[in-house]
Amino acid sequence: MQFRTRAIHEGNEHDPHTGAVVRPIHLSTTYVQPGAGQWREFDYSRSGNPTRKAFETTLASLESGVGALAFASGMAAIHGAMMLLSSGDHILAGADIYGGTYRLLHKVLDRAGIEVTLAPSTDLDAFEEAIRPRTRLVWIESPGNPGMSITDIRACAEMAHEHGALLGVDNTFATPVLTRPLELGADIVMHSATKFLGGHSDVMGGSLVVRDKALYDRLYFLQNATGAILAPLESFLCSRGIKTLELRVREQSKTAAQLAEFLDADPRVARVNYPGLPDHPGHEIARGQMDGAFGAVLSFEVAGDFEAARRTVERTRLFQLAVSLGAVESLIEQPASMSHASYDRDVRLAHGIPDGLIRLAVGLEAFEDLRDDLDQAMAAAGPQ
Ligand SMILES: Cc1ncc(COP(=O)(O)O)c(C=O)c1O
Repeated sequence: MQFRTRAIHEGNEHDPHTGAVVRPIHLSTTYVQPGAGQWREFDYSRSGNPTRKAFETTLASLESGVGALAFASGMAAIHGAMMLLSSGDHILAGADIYGGTYRLLHKVLDRAGIEVTLAPSTDLDAFEEAIRPRTRLVWIESPGNPGMSITDIRACAEMAHEHGALLGVDNTFATPVLTRPLELGADIVMHSATKFLGGHSDVMGGSLVVRDKALYDRLYFLQNATGAILAPLESFLCSRGIKTLELRVREQSKTAAQLAEFLDADPRVARVNYPGLPDHPGHEIARGQMDGAFGAVLSFEVAGDFEAARRTVERTRLFQLAVSLGAVESLIEQPASMSHASYDRDVRLAHGIPDGLIRLAVGLEAFEDLRDDLDQAMAAAGPQ
């Protein structure tokens, strides 16, 4: 079956008891057993829940995995993967990973004796130099945030495996519609389901998907032992969202590409970061590993300074001033004052995040309305 058909039918068989086309949300925490010491598929909802299972089944199918695990948030899912490591082990992560992942690595896992190095995953030679004998996990994001950097996932998988490490890919930005890391050799694919999978800014969730049953079993054990599972209502909302994933991602990506071209041609804009633009440094790799579109997030730099960007993001009317991405409504933010405000300025600039950078998370509104909104906001923000 095609991707969009599986998104609707895999894991979502009608309810055999009532015939309901949409399955009920199973809130029950516990399940009657046929006899003492005899177990059925479900016994206690931390260990397994039918509503969570439905979402996991759909997602595993869309990511070409053997199984998925749904977590309470994206961060819980990342933590779930990183619990595979022990004290003394080393994680090599891409230089522009999500800030929350950076914080988890440097302020939580370090206390468990897990060592970490950040290196540019876009430069495979430099990335490989940072590998150590105890590197057990390589962790990347593509596209990266907010510069939309592109990492060659297949090459990274080969590199990680040569050194005996697993490759984990945070696939939140690309979604399985555009990139399926497990098919490219990755071992773990992770999502903040809060973004495109949920798709409506109304559910927090996360997930891991793997292609190896033994790895699934290890992760399942860790999740059940620590408990950060996705609750039934949230699981239902993720299942509902994922049914329209392909339509949303393709349409939002199309609008993002149109906006990238519009901004690229605008003299008030100094630079546009979108992998779909031919002059983006990762364009060729993106063409090879992204399926027909380049995603719904882009960033651009207004000529001028911090204040010019701040005035612009505060003057949009349709784009709402908020962090996050992947939902039906378009969002705008200034990384320097919002998502990356905790960085020291020098570190931020070294990460390629200038004061004047603005990030757009493109939703499902009409291109013309979004274009006009940006146009009026830049005009109202005054001379750049
Ligand atoms: C790329 C990426 N990974 C992980 C996360 C963390 O996900 P959550 O906020 O669902 O915990 C985010 C959240 O913004 C993200 O953008």
